[in-house]
Amino acid sequence: ARLVVLVSGAGSNLAALLAAHDDLAYGARVVGVVADRPGIRALELAQEAGVPTAVVSLKDFPDRGAWDEALTEAVAVFSPDLVVAAGFMKLVGAPFLARFGGRILNTHPALLPSFPGAHGVRDALAYGVKVSGCSLIVVDEGVDSGPIVAQVPVVVQDGDDEDSLHERIKVAERALLVDVVGRAAREGLVVEGRRTRFGR
Ligand code: GRF
Repeated sequence: ARLVVLVSGAGSNLAALLAAHDDLAYGARVVGVVADRPGIRALELAQEAGVPTAVVSLKDFPDRGAWDEALTEAVAVFSPDLVVAAGFMKLVGAPFLARFGGRILNTHPALLPSFPGAHGVRDALAYGVKVSGCSLIVVDEGVDSGPIVAQVPVVVQDGDDEDSLHERIKVAERALLVDVVGRAAREGLVVEGRRTRFGR
């Protein structure tokens, strides 16, 4: 299966997928990496791995709709079977969902539906949860509101701050992402309402 990965930052999730795709049995290859900003580590990782990249920056477009169209085209160029938003910090719009809906996975560093949005780790810690974790969802038109494919719990430890908890969550998140993307690539992923299952 052909994977396109959407990135905005460090790309640790991308790095995990690039490591996995070296194993031919994995069944998926990262064929393109698309960022919403230049100069991020994730783009360097892609280039070092010989994977083509594209940058679609909001500031280069007259409005959000034009950006959405450009992002959709930049991803479509790679003919993806699956699109993985891993550390991607933008909401994809209607054109993107129309083109790739049902085949866009997003990873979020909290146990959805709790703590959606850009500060899930900080919000969970501030709330005083004893267990947080990460969630893999199928992207819909909302903010981290799509059907849940898989989740992994991560216990909050005394003295945790946002960084230490996020780093521990990211360890679980990378493993979950590699596992779920591989299975979806090999077996297919079916979305039925709010439920998902592997298969065709
Ligand atoms: C990840 O925890 C992702 O879920 C969240 O931000 C982090 C970015 O990770 N949105 P990465 O290193 O850029 O993949």
